[in-house]
Amino acid sequence: MTDFSVLRGEERLVMELRSLYAGYGYRTYRMSRFEEYDLYAGSKDFLVSGNMITFTDTDGKLLALKPDVTLSIVRSIRDCSKVSRICYDENVYRVSGSSGTFREIMQAGLECIGNLGDAELAEVALLAQKSLKTISASSVLTVSHMGIVEGFLNGLPDDIRKKAAKALENRNAGVLEALAQENSGCSAVLTKLSKLLALKGTNKDIIACLEGIGADSASIDELKAIVSVLDPDAVRIDFSILGKMKYYNGIVFRGYVQGVSVPVVSGGQYDKLLQTMGRNARAIGFAVYLDALERFLEEPGTEESADRPMINIALPKGRLGEKVYAKFAAAGFECPGILDDSRKLVFENPEAGVRFFWVKPSDVAVYVERGAADIGVAGKDIIDEYRPDVYEMLDLGMGRCRMCVAAMQDSGDDSGLTLRVATKFPNIARRYYSSIGREIDVIHLNGSIELAPVLGMSDVIVDIVETGTTLKENGLEVRETIMPISARVIVNKASFEFKRQALLGMMDALGKAVEE
Ligand code: PRP
Repeated sequence: MTDFSVLRGEERLVMELRSLYAGYGYRTYRMSRFEEYDLYAGSKDFLVSGNMITFTDTDGKLLALKPDVTLSIVRSIRDCSKVSRICYDENVYRVSGSSGTFREIMQAGLECIGNLGDAELAEVALLAQKSLKTISASSVLTVSHMGIVEGFLNGLPDDIRKKAAKALENRNAGVLEALAQENSGCSAVLTKLSKLLALKGTNKDIIACLEGIGADSASIDELKAIVSVLDPDAVRIDFSILGKMKYYNGIVFRGYVQGVSVPVVSGGQYDKLLQTMGRNARAIGFAVYLDALERFLEEPGTEESADRPMINIALPKGRLGEKVYAKFAAAGFECPGILDDSRKLVFENPEAGVRFFWVKPSDVAVYVERGAADIGVAGKDIIDEYRPDVYEMLDLGMGRCRMCVAAMQDSGDDSGLTLRVATKFPNIARRYYSSIGREIDVIHLNGSIELAPVLGMSDVIVDIVETGTTLKENGLEVRETIMPISARVIVNKASFEFKRQALLGMMDALGKAVEE
């Protein structure tokens, strides 16, 4: 056995993964730092981030600093009639989710391409699970099958399908139920999607239930064959994982390790991508995100007891926060002293298994996405502005208001001019105006937005309207409603895996408190 202990965490992991993959016959692929831009241009949305660093070579060709390895590997395969097993560890250059800027990111992974059968598909899922175990003793691979999910989603009209897919990804059964009530023609399919989300028990139990729901039987068989080779204690069937439907067709999976707030392994079967690249073959692979593991590998931290984990909850400071806390208390998660007049920010009740933090309302999503809080309560406005990668599991039905476009009463609109829009929500404003094809100049303010048109600094505002008093008292009026808003419970995806029972229990109790 080679001794890797003298290496840094990341280097050691790469060596261990390389040796694991080599044991299964995977040969290492080496690519150059640059690739022709065209290789990526046609499949931009397959990439983790569509942004690339490009430059022009001496012969005038547009090149890109490689943002991904999979596409180069697919292109390098000449003979799709056999099975090619390829692994890699390479630096890629893409926008990092956490910093929002370009970074050089070390990525390891593997691809299995060609004439694949169930055995090869299962082998790759097993290697994904083994990769996680190499990283940590406490890990879980969550697995879904696109054939099962799409089998249901494809039976829905386009607009409902998009909403249902989002609800599934958010693990939000309430939205699926509401959609089923509003669209009686689709209620059978939507109810089946709700059932997919609610499936409980062992993987065997879940597979047994799938037939009863009417899921695609070939996909069930494939899922069964794959799950049967995996360690049952470290795999969970979970239909909230949706791979990009344009590329993925079979199983898709994400891997989590305890102590890291984002998925560290991601992959699946992507025959459809091969078809878009003119190859008639099957393919499956995954990537290990070493950037997400950087700190964990040096400082793994301590594990919490799985029997009775504390749930960390970020509450929005202020009037809404107090009402939200009342719902938690009604649901059985009281915390004495939390409403006392003090400057304290953290309160805990170990008996109820909860620790509350008071945070600025606009920061709740950040605390939850980064795993400092397992769950939090944020307005839909904040969630839509920042679009954090979290589950949005429950609508508390409180803090109701709407996001609107407002302007001075009687003011006109010269559509020949760039519209000046003052707002606290630049992303929402940009997306809204881009959807209606209007060019805008965003003026990003932090408060008292109504002042901007009063002083002639902007033509309109995009802001929250609750009672309408602020608009009225400043001579403004609503011109368009962009979306309704209310307080939502958001959940960190990794926390959900490692505190699943406790979190599901809390969601249940909160759901009941909301109904009362
Ligand atoms: C929000 C919003 C509006 C006001 C709307 O401001 O930005 O100004 O509430 O409420 P209304 O329709 O009931 O009048 P907030 O109180 O958060 O203060 P801000 O000006 O600092 O953003």
